[in-house]
Amino acid sequence: MENPANTDLPIHELLRRRYSPRAFAPRAVDEGALTLLFEAARWAASCMNEQPWRFIVATQEEPEAHARLASCLVEGNRRWASAAPVLVLGLGVETFARNGKANPHTWHDLGLALGNLSLQATALGLAVHMMAGVERERAREVYAIPEGVSVITAIAIGYPGDPALLPEDLEARERAPRVRRPLDEVVFGERFGEPRSRR
Ligand SMILES: Cc1cc2nc3c(=O)[nH]c(=O)nc-3n(C[C@H](O)[C@H](O)[C@H](O)COP(=O)(O)O)c2cc1C
Repeated sequence: MENPANTDLPIHELLRRRYSPRAFAPRAVDEGALTLLFEAARWAASCMNEQPWRFIVATQEEPEAHARLASCLVEGNRRWASAAPVLVLGLGVETFARNGKANPHTWHDLGLALGNLSLQATALGLAVHMMAGVERERAREVYAIPEGVSVITAIAIGYPGDPALLPEDLEARERAPRVRRPLDEVVFGERFGEPRSRR
């Protein structure tokens, strides 16, 4: 299914077409496409070029590995994300490699890397659905993730599927209009909360 944003202004086609589906087609993502997604993530900007993002990846070609990663999702996400051909955990190194000090930008930079990954995915006809709903302690145990590395998000990746095949409640959410706050609520000028005047 296509689910383009109904934008107020003509943003780039890739941004307009990106969305987070719950329905995935039963079609594998080939290794070349998958590697391209991580290459896109690799070229994101990051504070001091630390590249604090790390990823754990499982595909449906290896059902045990896929089930293992799915077992780290909260139930509400597992029910639809288990059908995604690729599951990823997004991790972040919490300290700067150069001096061991805390890196408060890790979360920001993982987000940027995943932004790149999402747009590359859209360009390939794929879709990405990020998830905060992760069983973090379980993921840490299952994958032996060390202290100092945060389990931040999970990501479902695949070709968008048919929402009619989802359970009814999820189908309704999939078909709901995509909405956003107006720019005046988030872009300020003179003071916080005061819309920036556009000349
Ligand atoms: C950091 C982050 C965490 C999210 N967590 C979840 C989640 O746990 N479960 C879920 O169904 N969607 C999750 N989402 C998807 C958002 O709900 C979705 O991006 C938002 O509703 C906007 O929809 P769109 O991506 O289709 O434009 C998450 C998105 C982000 C960026």
